[in-house]
Amino acid sequence: MKVLVTGGTGYIGSHTVVELQEKGYDVYIIDDLSNSTIEIVDAIEEITGVRPHFSQFDLCDKAKLAEFFKQNPDIKACIHFAAKKAVGESVEKPLLYYHNNLVSFVNLLECMGDNNVNSFVFSSSCTVYGEPEYLPVDENAAIKPAVSPYGNTKQICEEILEDTIKSTDLQGIALRYFNPIGAHESAKIGELPIGVPNNLVPFVTQTAIGKREKLRVFGDDYDTKDGSCIRDYIHVVDLAKAHIVAIERLLEGKNVTPYEVFNIGTGKGFSVLEVVRTFEKVTGEKLNYEIVGRREGDVEKVWADTSYANEVLGWSAKMDLEQMLKSAWAWELALSKKEGIKA
Ligand code: WQD
Repeated sequence: MKVLVTGGTGYIGSHTVVELQEKGYDVYIIDDLSNSTIEIVDAIEEITGVRPHFSQFDLCDKAKLAEFFKQNPDIKACIHFAAKKAVGESVEKPLLYYHNNLVSFVNLLECMGDNNVNSFVFSSSCTVYGEPEYLPVDENAAIKPAVSPYGNTKQICEEILEDTIKSTDLQGIALRYFNPIGAHESAKIGELPIGVPNNLVPFVTQTAIGKREKLRVFGDDYDTKDGSCIRDYIHVVDLAKAHIVAIERLLEGKNVTPYEVFNIGTGKGFSVLEVVRTFEKVTGEKLNYEIVGRREGDVEKVWADTSYANEVLGWSAKMDLEQMLKSAWAWELALSKKEGIKA
């Protein structure tokens, strides 16, 4: 069965393509390579032995997208990752984010409707909850006004999806991710931040490998056990597997309502300093870090109530923080070896 994965050379997209192929799906990737490289397609082929179909273009180009569906009439489902996702950049360039993330989303839903592709999984985010009223946060929690244009595009896309589903045959699932980290056990794919990483774990591994001088811990004066922020870190492969469960739920008509939303996390929260200590423990590397001021827009603490995904979706995260950080470190080591060879 043919499945379209937009953003399939990205961090979560590439791991999802691997899991789809390993379940026997015939995967078509559309990616504009604005935040990834074609080498990821080679890496996926090395892992699974099957080269995914690959088309390079921007989903904002409606004509190209319509042509793609015309050339591939028997695509049955779509998992949509392609979007810009740097919180800080979205604050500096809001129109870039609203244009890219919303126009591409509308184009995709229109083309899917024109071609009767009615199973859709959307990459959403726990940022829609902002600073939750209660923890762990479940899917009924209030959606808070977004603190960044990036987070707002996720909320708006969820609303567009829900409204479209109400008025068409489309069936959809939004997966609200918590904090994806780690890499595939092969260390052939992983998080590839371009430039200085915004996210914690790639910054940790780049500091440990010597690419960065030191990690700045953004605040230790929060109302948490050690003063640093708490997040629900989830292994990217556990997250990828959730997409397979979700798309098969739709393809097999098991979804209870046409639009469903699930929190995809581990249900456990860890502080920044706990991540640092765990990283040092599993790698034996001493991490050079400094406590600095808070980062604008950071939520103090958030972790998932995963009971709905566990019981209804029939999925749960398997890997613990040590395994996640070990895989992130193995990836960093593999990357630097490859870069070393290049240099
Ligand atoms: C985690 C914690 C930081 C870097 C964001 C987006 C979310 C998703 C994941 C795209 C925070 C602290 C970080 C550093 C630090 N992005 N930190 N020093 O902000 O929870 O989520 O990335 O889909 O939508 O909102 O992730 O990894 O940036 O930060 O102390 O150099 O690590 O303050 O407490 P975040 P993060």
